[in-house]
Amino acid sequence: EPLVIGIDIGGTGTKFGIVDRVGNVLFSSQMSTKKHKTIETFIDDLYNNLKPLIDKAGGVGRIKGIGVGAPNGNYYSGTVEYAPNLPWKGILPLAKLVQDKFKLPVVLTNDANAAAIGEMMYGAAQGMKDFIMITLGTGVGSGIVANGHLIYGHDGFAGELGHTIIIPDGRMHEGTGKRGSLESYASATGVTLTALELLKNTKKKSVLRDVKPEEIDSKKVFDAAIAGDELAKEIFEYTGKILGMALANAVMFSSPEAIILFGGLTKAGELILKPTREHMEANLIQVFQNKVKILVSHLKESDAAILGASALAWEIK
Ligand code: BGC
Ligand code: NA
Repeated sequence: EPLVIGIDIGGTGTKFGIVDRVGNVLFSSQMSTKKHKTIETFIDDLYNNLKPLIDKAGGVGRIKGIGVGAPNGNYYSGTVEYAPNLPWKGILPLAKLVQDKFKLPVVLTNDANAAAIGEMMYGAAQGMKDFIMITLGTGVGSGIVANGHLIYGHDGFAGELGHTIIIPDGRMHEGTGKRGSLESYASATGVTLTALELLKNTKKKSVLRDVKPEEIDSKKVFDAAIAGDELAKEIFEYTGKILGMALANAVMFSSPEAIILFGGLTKAGELILKPTREHMEANLIQVFQNKVKILVSHLKESDAAILGASALAWEIK
């Protein structure tokens, strides 16, 4: 029985797995993206990490192809273009580089689009024709499915919800040079920035004051919030407020049946979901109110994008 490989490249880490026809991830692992200064060493490392899994799965002869989901990835061209959260700049022929290294056919798409496909085939969006996938990780990604099809747009970059502007003159995104984007607030990076701002601009007590500013991250904010820290809870409330506003805009723009959230920040559960739901509803005009479900991906951690990317590999001729 043939198998495929699914790869989910993230700004911080890259996850990959070998997947069968029905979507079982047979072997999987992960590695750092961030530490690689060049795309070449990244591809070498990816190969060295995947090789043992391929051998376990019965050798390269069993692998039909590779599907890759990547930030700012383009399905039409197989390129990754000007990714603000990857360490490598410019236009990268990622599909070709992976293909040359592995000597296997490769198909590439945007990471959030891959997650949308994963949810559609194996997850919370099964049977849905209109939904929006939102990935909340190092960046904020989205995949829009309308009438059963992913929306790629003219150039193939449709669905960059993370870079829509929600706060005039807001935070500067170092990767894009733009101010006030959703990603600068509702990503893991955004949570960290909100924490630093609130610590600096208020006098509120918080266990986060015992952490060196450069060591604060979304995980520490999460741990503090779980332990009942009021300031940490406020950070998630603010994040949910911004995200809820952005989701209301997305709902009014595309009328989905549901929004599916996936990625590191969803681990904060109701801490972020409650304010997100409330602020989405509060900003919707009446015709959309109390209709659109916000669901959290229930596919095993991060499998949505691996599964979606791998599903694309079955289409390789
Ligand atoms: C990129 C998107 C990507 C998202 C999540 C954003 O910065 O522009 O293409 O889907 O991060 O990785
Ligand atoms: Na997308």
